[in-house]
Amino acid sequence: MRHFLTINDFSKEEILEIIDLAFKIKNETKSGEIKPYMKNKTLGMIFEKSSTRTRVSFEVGIYQLGGHGLFLSSNDTQLGRGEPMKDTARVLSRMVDMVMIRTFSQKKLEEFASFSSVPVINGLTDEYHPVQLMADFMTMKEHGVEKPVVAYVGDGNNMTHSWLMLASKLGFELRVVTPKGYEVDSVVLQKAQEFAKISGAKIVITDEPKEAVSGANVVTTDTWISMGQEDEKEKRVKDFDGFIVDENLMSLADEKAIFLHCLPAYRGYEVSEEVFEKHSNVIFDEAENRLHAQKGIMVWLDRTRG
Ligand code: CP
Ligand code: NVA
Repeated sequence: MRHFLTINDFSKEEILEIIDLAFKIKNETKSGEIKPYMKNKTLGMIFEKSSTRTRVSFEVGIYQLGGHGLFLSSNDTQLGRGEPMKDTARVLSRMVDMVMIRTFSQKKLEEFASFSSVPVINGLTDEYHPVQLMADFMTMKEHGVEKPVVAYVGDGNNMTHSWLMLASKLGFELRVVTPKGYEVDSVVLQKAQEFAKISGAKIVITDEPKEAVSGANVVTTDTWISMGQEDEKEKRVKDFDGFIVDENLMSLADEKAIFLHCLPAYRGYEVSEEVFEKHSNVIFDEAENRLHAQKGIMVWLDRTRG
């Protein structure tokens, strides 16, 4: 049995196999052929943080696969009153077939998984957001980016860490540009550099946005203030001065470059209204691909479990 906690745990071949499966199910769904790959299976969805896309895409996804999703907010389960993750894991494992968790620390997620006898999926932690990256990869492929040269502009956060893992596993070029003091985690970077030696990926770390974006065929960013960092807003907005992805910065990218954003987007901060709206078609394809990518992940995990 496998869990989907980070991209690090998967080989390049496995990542591509899940993506192929996601495209297959997407094509079937689009042509009206809805196959019940997970008939009567249930997915428990634990949320300790807010969500729009993750909740809707997992709930609709499991329904379209013939199963049922249960929304379990920590506000109204015993988790919010201090019941340990390891007990919750053992209870849910007796009742549901798969669990998705959005929580704070990756450690907490890993603890849950180690006590779970059913597959567990990471729906975002402070460290990683791997399901988003699977959708982002599908979107790059659909928009003809065969040889990605990705510039990530902004905070060294869960999205950046997941980009590092995807690039270093699949072997493409990733340039990460963060302001000083907001660099990616050094352990994650070291891991990415080790994977890059095997895959041939090129990982560039800089604090100069123009250098990172120059000639890139994918430009991406994320909020400067992630969930849980609301108190740091004032300081962060000052520290990220000069890091907005606007027309000036985008003009340095490849002329056919696409712009990705995991959403929610904060116009006037990490991205300008102009860049956002110009690229909104791709951004909302990316959002839709959350549904398809996660159906691929769920079916793959279910099959692997046997
Ligand atoms: N991108 C993403 O995970 O969105 P939500 O926070 O709305 O789930
Ligand atoms: N980095 C953001 C991603 C939201 C999908 C956060 O953790 O809030």
